[in-house]
Amino acid sequence: MENLLSLKTLTNDEIIYLVNRALELKKGAKPANLDACVANLFFEPSTRTHYSFIRAEQKLGLEVLDFNPSGSSLKKGETLNDTVKLFQSLGADVLVIRHEEDRYYEKLIDNINIPIINAGDGKGDHPTQSLLDIVTIYESFNRLEGLKCVIYGDLSHSRVANTNIDIFNKLGIKVETVSPPGFEYNESTTNDLSEAIIDADIVMGLRIQHERHSEHFTYTQEDYVTKFGLDENRLKLLKPECIIMHPAPVNRGWEMIDAAVDGPKSRIFQQMANGVYVRMAVLERSLVK
Ligand code: CP
Repeated sequence: MENLLSLKTLTNDEIIYLVNRALELKKGAKPANLDACVANLFFEPSTRTHYSFIRAEQKLGLEVLDFNPSGSSLKKGETLNDTVKLFQSLGADVLVIRHEEDRYYEKLIDNINIPIINAGDGKGDHPTQSLLDIVTIYESFNRLEGLKCVIYGDLSHSRVANTNIDIFNKLGIKVETVSPPGFEYNESTTNDLSEAIIDADIVMGLRIQHERHSEHFTYTQEDYVTKFGLDENRLKLLKPECIIMHPAPVNRGWEMIDAAVDGPKSRIFQQMANGVYVRMAVLERSLVK
């Protein structure tokens, strides 16, 4: 039984195996022959992760139970634990779960005997996002070691930052972090995006996560993008080979302007496409006996 709760518990070899398997599947390799049922339990909103899991499940020929929290017995007070046990009782062989609570899975793993794939937990981890980011970087540079990645924006509320900073460094990608004051990742986070991006190979923006803010967010759009976003002036500073990434959804005009999202350096929609193959690889890992 192979859970995927956090990438931080995987070795570099295990991470690279999943990256290579996603790349093989993208090139048309035959997926494993799986006769299984998957339940998608998205307790928090999602478009990319949810629907790329569904696409991956279709491509693997899996049976899919797709849970809709707004029309469910959660409204009658059913607990996360009981909802999860229900889907195991219905015959699910693996659970894909997104939940707003950090490390929600710790409460569940002793109560069920099928694997959990974490599709994002609060500010904790987003392992499949990190894998698809690595696949996308590898496709652009044919290597990971020695690259410089600037991750900028609302770092303190971001599970993507929390996973990527750790895993990228482990794989030899040098990460620098930049944020508005009060949104830092750690003491080495700076507030000067222009200086950080000049020699970057990858510039990765992060969404302003209003849903996790307890403090009042006071910036105007103009103020935010000019001080902390990829605006026209900062686009001109990037190296010719530099790529732009963002896990999305993007607050267009805040974290970056349209010319960054839709321009030739953007890999944002390639990231989304790669999500399908990464999720196929991860489902195979959890289901192959
Ligand atoms: N990147 C990401 O997790 O997007 P969704 O919230 O739409 O799944």
